[in-house]
Order: sequence, then structure tokens, then C-alpha cells
Amino acid sequence: MADIRNHIEKRRTFAIISHPDAGKTTLTEKFLLYGGAIQSAGAVKGKSSDRHATSDWMEIEKKRGISVTSSVLQFEYEGYHINILDTPGHQDFSEDTYRTLMAADSAVMVIDGAKGIEPQTRKLFKVCAMRHIPIFTFINKMDRETRDPFDLIDELEKEFGIGTYPMNWPIGCGVDFKGVYERDRHSILAYDEFHAGRKRLKGIECDINDTEQMDSLIGPYAREALTEQIELLDGACFDFDIEKVRCGKLSPVFFGSALNNFGVEAFLERFLQMTSAPLSHMSIHPAVEPAEISPFEDHFSAFVFKIQANMNKAHRDRIAFMRICSGQFERGEEYFHVQAGKPVKLSQPQQMMAQEREIIETAYAGDIIGVFDPGIFSIGDTICAKGAKIQYAGIPTFAPEHFAVVEQIDSMKRKQFAKGMTQIAQEGAIQIFFEPNTGMERVIVGVVGVLQFDVLQFRMESEYGVKYYKKDTPHQLIRYIDNDPEELNPASLRLMQNTKWVQDVKGRNLLVFVGDYEIDFALDKNPGLKLSEFEQNM
Ligand code: G4P
Repeated sequence: MADIRNHIEKRRTFAIISHPDAGKTTLTEKFLLYGGAIQSAGAVKGKSSDRHATSDWMEIEKKRGISVTSSVLQFEYEGYHINILDTPGHQDFSEDTYRTLMAADSAVMVIDGAKGIEPQTRKLFKVCAMRHIPIFTFINKMDRETRDPFDLIDELEKEFGIGTYPMNWPIGCGVDFKGVYERDRHSILAYDEFHAGRKRLKGIECDINDTEQMDSLIGPYAREALTEQIELLDGACFDFDIEKVRCGKLSPVFFGSALNNFGVEAFLERFLQMTSAPLSHMSIHPAVEPAEISPFEDHFSAFVFKIQANMNKAHRDRIAFMRICSGQFERGEEYFHVQAGKPVKLSQPQQMMAQEREIIETAYAGDIIGVFDPGIFSIGDTICAKGAKIQYAGIPTFAPEHFAVVEQIDSMKRKQFAKGMTQIAQEGAIQIFFEPNTGMERVIVGVVGVLQFDVLQFRMESEYGVKYYKKDTPHQLIRYIDNDPEELNPASLRLMQNTKWVQDVKGRNLLVFVGDYEIDFALDKNPGLKLSEFEQNM
């Protein structure tokens, strides 16, 4: 048992969130280099023809046009067993990106120092904040001209409503970038043109009030600016409080340059020290009182957070990704699929180990495994040891941002159309809605990323043999109506003409809006109307 505990305590499972181009891939790559999981920079993306993409699995999916995956990378570093959950951006952005965050214990937020907070960072931050997980900020590209660092942390605090604690402070930026001052260690990590991505960069101990020493290290101009800024920071900034960090109220901030491998190792080290072993998860099994399940619990338990369809088109196979929440997983063991009420053997359990996908024999709380899914799992399902009364609270449905009306062409294929739409929605690849009192021939499809529309069309044609008409609608926002329909009949609401009342598969009422103005209008004209972005039962 002590052995299992050791394994679990070493685990750190986190997601890296950022807006495209902020440097997420570059930072991930540097982490992997430290862990010895890859040998050369560039291996993650496989930019040049002679380099292998770490995630070749994703490449294959891309060729098939169904790249909606979030991959998991694992490596060992300084005695820690690290699981990095990738959150795809650009056109790959989808509901899976959000769901992945449900499997993480903490998040690293990468911000481009010249740009500050960008839209995708905002969206992903919201989900992390909803879970109260620790968020560590890495302000990247300090080797370029950036915005004023005070401005950047001010923006984080104001926009996100959290405190920040700069662990280090940049000394200049761009061509004048001299490195960072490590506030608690009273040392300088020096950046110079000969830095060339050195590993194991040693801090130079210094006394910020020792003018002579500081001048010899960074020159009088930078010294003056730094002492002034540190004084300001010490006076005005939040106190460091690890408890606040652990509940996501205070974000430790680090400045650096991922491309130049500057500040990355120091960041990784501090990050690993400050984060904790896998978190507990809430179980709401109907037969017992709701309880937090500790990762160190004897029984194995896990929940499905992502289902990847069509890994192999010929076999229509699916991979269910699950986050292990407690105990130890063992290949070949018979477990219990709570939602189906049936025993289950998890076949072909696999993990991504940097370059390879490999079948595994054991895994522990904190790990992510992918298992072959013959079509029995749904997002949010719990799998646990036989006899354990555990059922995890599920995964919220994230608000789609693109909508289209989809109507079947061939009425002879009504059944296939309904089946395909429902199954694909159950898997969580799309969300479907209905206008009240209309049938299943006309469905409103909502997606988080537009690529999901292509996936839908591809799968409906190839798997269900159904073609359909699709018309994009201008809607971008969706809100649950939290009022009881008995009290407030959605049909009686005063809404702008382009606001749509729809129902989801469970019959819950929602409103679809074109923009914020329409939401304000609805709230203004209908006193007592309660709208929420996330499902209230989560
Ligand atoms: P992403 O995964 O967040 O989308 O970003 P990615 O790491 O791919 O980085 C986006 C671009 O920013 C890349 O340049 C990358 O080299 C650059 N970059 C990342 N970190 C730093 C940094 O610390 N300093 C500077 N100056 N640049 C950085 P690119 O030209 O788009 O691609 P590439 O051809 O260099 O790969």
C-alpha cells in the first residue's frame, strides 16, 4: 500500500492553457527536454520534414480531418511523474479542450508578454476558475519588446479577479533583456546573448541594495529601474500565500522566454514544489452520502472525460480517455462501469509516452489512460473497482459558440439521421437542440469549435450514410434558463426577434443569442429571468 502511495504522491497532472502563438508548444517542448523525453527542440511540432512529430497520432487524425483530440504527454523529472494535458487551439479548439481541463489538477497559463490576455486564454481561464484549481502564469517572450510588466499583472488581476504574486521580475525586455530577479531567492538569473538555451542556469546571489554589486551585474540604468520596481512590488503586491495558490485565488507569475529556454527550468522546479499530489474528486453515488474520494483510497476509480471516435475508421473504434482519481489501475482486472451497471474489462489500456503510444500494465491516481471503447462509454462515466460505491459528479456541458440548423435531405433516412445525430451528440462531439414542438428532422447543432461541423458531416456521411442541409445561424451565445418553467413559461418571454428559445435532449430550456446586447435585452425586459452559462447541477 505504501508503494502505491509513493507512486501517487509523485504525480503532477496539469494542463497548459494559452492563446495560439503565445508559446505553449515551445514551453511544452522545453519541459520534455528537461525530462529527457525528447532529444531535440522542434520534436513536438515536427515543423521540419526530418523531425518526427511527438504526437504523430494527432497527425494521422488530422489527415482524416477529424483532429479534435487533446493529447496527454508523460515524463519523469526530478522524481516527479508528470502528465501534461494538451489543450488544442486554433481551429482544433473544441469542447474537448474544455473537458480536458476537468482532468487536470492545475494549469499553466502562458501569456505573450507583448499581447497580454487574449480571447482563448480568457475562455480557458474561466473553466479553471470554475474548478478552483491552481493557476501558474508564465509570461513569455521577454526577449522581445513587451508591455510594461506592471500593466500585465494589473490586467490579470482586473480581468480575472485573482491576485498575482510575481515570483521573479524581468530586468528589461527585448534587446535590453538582462534576465530576471528572483524575489524570494534574492538572486539574478542572467540572460545574455551567449545564453543559447543553457540548462541548469545558476542564479547569482545578490543584494538588491548593494549598488556596486548590482551595477556590475546589470549596469546602473537597469539597476535603478529594478530597485524602484521591486520596492513598488513589495509595497503594493499581494503577500505570498500557498493556500490561496492551491485554491486558485493567487497566481504565481514567472517571466521568461520559452524559445531561449530562459526561466523554464526555474519555473518547472517551483511549479512542482508548489503544486500538490492528485486532488480528491467529489462522488455522488446515490447509495451513499456524497463524499470526496481521496486519490489514496484503496479502490481504483476513474471518470471518462473524452471520447475519441474513429481512431481507426475500418473498425469504427473509439478510445475513451479517463482520468484515474483513486487507487491503482491494473490491466486485465475486471472493473465496474457504474452508469451501465455492468462489469467491464478495459482493453488495450494505453498511455502516450512522448513519442509513443504504449500499452500499459498499471497506472495510478493522477494518470490518464485511453482504453478501447466498443461504444459503451459516455463522457462523465465512472469506472471503479467492483463493490466500490463511487460515482463522480460528471462533466459540465460547455456552452457552444457556433450554431447551425441542420435538416435531413432524404426523408427515407429519418431513422439514420436521428440515430447519427443522437449518438454523435452522446459522445460529446456536438450538442443538439430542438425548437420546441418540432420533430427530429430539423436539429440545431451547437459546437465550440467550427471544425466540429466538418467532423459531423464527415461522420454522418461515412458512418450513417446520411446527407443533410446545413445553414449557419448568427448566434454565438447560449444560456440555460434557470427558472422553473411552471413559474416562468419560456414561450411568454419578451425577446429580441433573433433570440431563439430551444430545448436540449433532456428537455431543458435554453436561449440562443446573437450577442451580449440581446442577453441584456432579455434580462431587462423579463424581470426575474435567471440565465446561466453552465449547467446548474454541476
Ligand atoms: P503555441 O503553441 O502557443 O501556438 O505557440 P508556439 O510555441 O508554436 O510559438 C509560437 C511562435 O512564437 C513560434 O514562432 C515560436 O518560435 C515563438 N516563440 C515561442 N516562445 C518564444 C520566446 O520566448 N521568444 C520569442 N522571441 N519567440 C517565441 P513561429 O515563427 O511562429 O514559428 P517557428 O517557425 O519559430 O516554429
